[in-house]
Amino acid sequence: MMRDKGCGEINETQVGAVLTVAGWVFRRRDHGGLIFIDLRDRSGLCQVVFSPDVAADVHERAHDLRAEYVISVTGEIRRRPEGTENPNIPTGLVEMYAGKLEVLNASAPLPFNMEEAAEAGEALRLKHRYLDLRRPEMQRNLILRHRVAKMVRDYLDENGFLEIETPMLTKSTPEGARDYLVPSRMNPGQFYALPQSPQLFKQILMVAGMERYFQIVKCFRDEDLRADRQPEFTQVDLEMSFVEREEILGLMEGLMKRLFGDVLGVEVETPFPRLGYAESMDRFGNDKPDLRFGLELKDMADLAAKGTFKVFLDALQSGGLVKAINGKGMAGLSRKEIDTLTAEAQSFGAKGLAWIKVKGGFESPIAKFFPEDVLKEMASRLEAGEGDLMMFVADKKKVVYDVLSRMRLELGKRLDLIRPGYRFAWVLDFPLLEWDEEGERFQAMHHPFTSPMDEDAAAMLGGDSDRKVLASLKAKAYDIVLNGYEIGGGSIRIHRQDVQRRMFELLGIGGGEARAKFGFLLDALQYGAPPHGGIALGLDRLAMLMTGASSIRDVIAFPKTQKAFCMMSGAPSSVDPKQLRELHIKTDVVAETP
Ligand code: AMO
Ligand code: AMP
Repeated sequence: MMRDKGCGEINETQVGAVLTVAGWVFRRRDHGGLIFIDLRDRSGLCQVVFSPDVAADVHERAHDLRAEYVISVTGEIRRRPEGTENPNIPTGLVEMYAGKLEVLNASAPLPFNMEEAAEAGEALRLKHRYLDLRRPEMQRNLILRHRVAKMVRDYLDENGFLEIETPMLTKSTPEGARDYLVPSRMNPGQFYALPQSPQLFKQILMVAGMERYFQIVKCFRDEDLRADRQPEFTQVDLEMSFVEREEILGLMEGLMKRLFGDVLGVEVETPFPRLGYAESMDRFGNDKPDLRFGLELKDMADLAAKGTFKVFLDALQSGGLVKAINGKGMAGLSRKEIDTLTAEAQSFGAKGLAWIKVKGGFESPIAKFFPEDVLKEMASRLEAGEGDLMMFVADKKKVVYDVLSRMRLELGKRLDLIRPGYRFAWVLDFPLLEWDEEGERFQAMHHPFTSPMDEDAAAMLGGDSDRKVLASLKAKAYDIVLNGYEIGGGSIRIHRQDVQRRMFELLGIGGGEARAKFGFLLDALQYGAPPHGGIALGLDRLAMLMTGASSIRDVIAFPKTQKAFCMMSGAPSSVDPKQLRELHIKTDVVAETP
């Protein structure tokens, strides 16, 4: 055996024993007479003391140890002298006096100091990910992620789910992103798509009578990346037959209760609060509300209409909105600070930011456009009192929502309003279809396999093609939201072939195209498809929130950068021309290595 105990497992019960530990040299302090080393492995840290009185040759050789050398040490466990204990680590009451030292491997000088890795710059950390991942913080993240995945499996197994794998080399599944394509050598000119999700296959597993499926599965989406998005990410994907929405929501609430209780020791209250999509947009400006603080958006259209401020009136006239939020205690901002705030609103897409200070009376360049009683009503609707700053945005609906939801989050942080803890919510009653201005056509708000509400299915099949009517159809879709992040989404599916065909039609996917892309699903639907529905959780986002990491990259062992590049392996990269010939691919770009 190379070692008796993990470094983090040394404790007072072993005082007097001679043990062997192995690990990496984390810190080294040379006090002339004594050399102290913090030795680290996955289990934790322990202090090893090299003393010339215990073993002179070993002490001599310890001078040569450097950061991240891999060593094994044998020695006696002793209680630390009084006053030198370290209450911050579990092994802090004891230390090992080295009697034997073996250097298992040396390390080249490090590209960054392990203790300051967090500040080292992410590019450097990602390039040397093997070093970055040695850090206790990163190890904790991956250990938590493992525990979450394990509990998910246990929970779903207990609830009768089967883990079934679906193919990676497949056809495009529309989830709203671009596909990653893989050329087929055997079929020149043809391509597989990596799955954006296992959506079609899991539905077909329901037709196939599996009743309850789940999979912890990689999904691939070629889209613009952000702190909570990766080109390949992991879903906890599941699907059930003979279910209604309530059963799926209940199942997920139970899962969250278990995960947060067992992994974090946090009591999660169920059922989660529910918001309609329209209500969520109205109150928070987005469909993933952060319920840890207030600062809600208020509609000001009726009051704006009672004044003469042209910006507001114009916005209302052209079918837009006037909404406002209340910056508590912000009336003290200087003109310059308000200009900065305005510039911020503009960077989010606003044309400007109208404001009214409650300071004695109402102080504002736009106060003159409103009678006193209207100003008072504005303040009362926003619950604005002395010292507060009311901020208004007037514009098209989408712009108002976009700007104010982002201002709300910014101010929530700045004003320190965000309460600690975990606030879940369900967002329900999504529209079925969303009008795409650019493409001048409808798109599925969730995906094309989501069922309309029962009462809307008839309208849909009735052949109504009025845009207003279609835009008002609601879907049996639901998102699970945690602290302002969408951590999962799902729906009850269309299980009737006629409804699915009509859906494709509404999305402008013609008969031929539908057959070519989704023929296998349409075929399957005609052979006794049971009613079914499901959901997929973003495992990376969930792990990010549970660990408190600021990016999903910190809970993924080998993530990619914003440019979808792997700093460590150098993927993507150019390939041998011979490989391209075999794949019948000609390219006209000479790739540069980023
Ligand atoms: P959806 O597209 O909403 O639904 O995805 C489900 C969840 O996956 C996470 N997610 C991501 N996480 C990291 N990086 C990404 N690029 C990324 N994209 C999505 C989110 C999201 O809520 N097939 C449907 C599910 C269903 O209907 O059952 C689907 O994929 O947390
Ligand atoms: P102006 O009439 O352009 O001088 O603007 C007067 C005030 O209204 C300024 O504080 C602008 O920032 C603000 N403002 C301009 N456009 C908008 C808008 N669309 N919504 C809210 N405030 C605006």
